[in-house]
Amino acid sequence: MELDLINSPIVEDFKRGMLQGRKSIPPKYFYDDVGSRLFDQICDLPEYYPTRVESGLLKNISAELINFVKPDCITELGSGSSRKTRHLFDACQKLNYGLLYEPVDVCQEMLNWSSSNLEKKYDWLSVNPIVADYNEEIKWKVNDSRRRLFVFLGGTIGNFDAALALQFLKKLKNEMGSDDYLLIGADRVKRPDLLHAAYNDRAGYTAKFNLNVLSVFNKKLKTKFLKENFHHYAFYNPIESQIEMHLVSSSEQYVEVSALNEKLYFHQGESILTEISRKFTKKSFEKLLKEAGFQVERHFESDQLKFSLILAHPSS
Ligand code: SAH
Ligand code: AVI
Repeated sequence: MELDLINSPIVEDFKRGMLQGRKSIPPKYFYDDVGSRLFDQICDLPEYYPTRVESGLLKNISAELINFVKPDCITELGSGSSRKTRHLFDACQKLNYGLLYEPVDVCQEMLNWSSSNLEKKYDWLSVNPIVADYNEEIKWKVNDSRRRLFVFLGGTIGNFDAALALQFLKKLKNEMGSDDYLLIGADRVKRPDLLHAAYNDRAGYTAKFNLNVLSVFNKKLKTKFLKENFHHYAFYNPIESQIEMHLVSSSEQYVEVSALNEKLYFHQGESILTEISRKFTKKSFEKLLKEAGFQVERHFESDQLKFSLILAHPSS
């Protein structure tokens, strides 16, 4: 194995997810340069309502949020292109309110691109991009005592299973100061056909996004996945209230994993679970936050209850 791969998280995650039992991978591996851009294209698709709906909701409440929280810093976890966060900056601009923006993301290329765009558009905004895995502990308060508004948008909390979501929120709560706030978005349970369509767009961007994870492994782990041997398959499971996204092997095949000196066996029809996207009710979303030790300050719901944004505060 190449020296830089020994003990690296990608090797450990690949071994844990792909070499034993049912195959799955953590969703962070979708987001290399290509995957991050594909996700940004998904956000503009007619079928993918979450971005439009959350954006509209955030636009309506941004000034109220800034006036209420009065943050010194907005720290956004999994910021991507930061497109929706611009509503908060627009509100700050109107209120003549300066602050620091700390976008945190695993994708260095997307962070560079979005930070430089933001600095061009908002010349008063200080941007401090942080390339990090938000599952790792981050000591925000070591270097400063700023009041932070943590922002976690897109319904990305739904990409964790129930146990991991709770673990992630508890960890975040422990990193927050007592006057910090969290603004968190979640997609809501709704008609299965609307959910199904959002992950099976006609233009095929979601399929490309899903299959791109194989290229990420080919590049980083020197695997020899052939995309043409896998199919995108996503469906809504109403029992678990979640979208499940898979890559299904179209035939019996072996895939070489050179970096690990392994051959990965797939039987025909075997799948890799690449993502879950959990959908919440008003009750289940509030329950999750309360269990993690937050007090729900406000619960904002979009028209037709398609999407929720909760402003929460660490309980004392
Ligand atoms: N917040 C944006 C982007 C959502 S896509 C929006 O609402 O549109 C999910 C984002 O989280 C991607 O930009 C991805 O690179 C980032 N991400 C995924 N897993 C991560 C992790 N473990 N640590 C940090 N960022 C992560
Ligand atoms: C980032 N996350 C909230 C998206 C979702 O809807 O679960 C990722 C995505 N997967 C397919 N389309 C979008």
